[in-house]
Amino acid sequence: MSQPIPSLPSHVPPELAYPFPLTPRKAGLVNPFTDLIPKIHQGPAIFYGTDIFPGPGGGGWVIRRSEDLKAVYSNTTEFIKKGNGQFAAMIGESWDVIPTELDPPRHTAFRMSLNPAFTPRKMAELDGKVRDRARSLVAKFKDQGHCDFVKDYGVPFPISIFLDLIGLPQERMDQFLDWEFSLLHTNDMEARGAAVRAVKAMLLEEIEKRQKNPTDDMISNTLKLIVDGRKWTTEEVFGHCFNLFLGGLDTVTANLGLHFFHLATNPQMQRELREDPTKIDAAQEELLRAYSAVSTMRICHQEITIHGITIKPGDRVLMSTPLGSNDPEVFENPTVVDINRRPVHLTFGFGPHRCLGAALARRELEVSYREILGSLPEFRLAPGFQVPFFLSNIIHIDELQLVW
Ligand code: HEM
Repeated sequence: MSQPIPSLPSHVPPELAYPFPLTPRKAGLVNPFTDLIPKIHQGPAIFYGTDIFPGPGGGGWVIRRSEDLKAVYSNTTEFIKKGNGQFAAMIGESWDVIPTELDPPRHTAFRMSLNPAFTPRKMAELDGKVRDRARSLVAKFKDQGHCDFVKDYGVPFPISIFLDLIGLPQERMDQFLDWEFSLLHTNDMEARGAAVRAVKAMLLEEIEKRQKNPTDDMISNTLKLIVDGRKWTTEEVFGHCFNLFLGGLDTVTANLGLHFFHLATNPQMQRELREDPTKIDAAQEELLRAYSAVSTMRICHQEITIHGITIKPGDRVLMSTPLGSNDPEVFENPTVVDINRRPVHLTFGFGPHRCLGAALARRELEVSYREILGSLPEFRLAPGFQVPFFLSNIIHIDELQLVW
């Protein structure tokens, strides 16, 4: 575990440097939540994962405790987001993905402009559409007695909501599936660059249409927003729509796959929620905690010491919500899913960059629970099916064969 690594920066103690098992960018049959995360929590509070990010020199610090993660999330002086972004750079350009790639004070100004559009009340207004999308997907498989939950529901559902949000017809689904796959699921840089260009061209075309003929979708609404006393530029509106595309699809797919894996393997919990749907809220919050999937990163801007370890400018720090939301110092028996827990978790991050879409994500998940538990009888994993957990910056399940 602690063999010398030639490319290790000189300030990293070699005994704290080793491969990090949660981000190898491949699928395996080990459940990371019950088998890997508890072991990591037995180790040091901070260590250096030698292989976290793709490519040579892909090392970075891992902070496993919730309190330490919160301190880094809140510290926008020593830790910044600038430099995180690779999408504009991938095609030789320099626009920002808004708000995720910004630091204060620009970030603060854009969040203040955006926050009122993403409140729980605003997102609840979308419930009717969200329910319709859920129903029409479930209708396609509910009578066949089986489905691949990821392919038949988990992937298309958030895309259909995104299409509604930005006012595009559902017929564009296949194109979006292609783009999402090329952008986020391949390592082929040419294909990824082509997808960034294609998504950019599509979004700019739609923005131009809404500038001429405003509607009530999110593009038209963003065009009306004010930041620093002026309207957003076209490039900023595009940067925000790109952020919704990046942040709002895979995250929801991953959570749906993981939560429904849990339900499929815990029939008593399905029964409890069917008998008393008022428990769905609490169950959802606890599943969000127990299956926290998303890791992002920060870049150190000014030298800082955490638990006696020096982090230098330019060092990358993994912000692992799977670790933070399963920290045994905060949550007793974190691997146990206890719907009475009412957890305050890190699944949507913390501090100024906390997930802008959290209220929408919660609506999407809750509607999914209600529609699926209400439409299907008790479901379980297909006999002999082994669940592939894909471990990367978003832990997810690639395929989930269910039967009922
Ligand atoms: C269960 C689903 C989701 C999870 C687990 C999730 C998780 C996260 C996390 C952990 C962050 C913080 C990143 C950081 O600080 O580095 C974040 C930020 C963000 N998320 Fe989500 N997200 C989800 C769904 C969504 C949805 C549906 C949308 C869009 C409608 C969205 C849009 C965003 C945006 C725009 C940011 C950037 C916020 C900022 O930098 O100020 N997310 N999300």
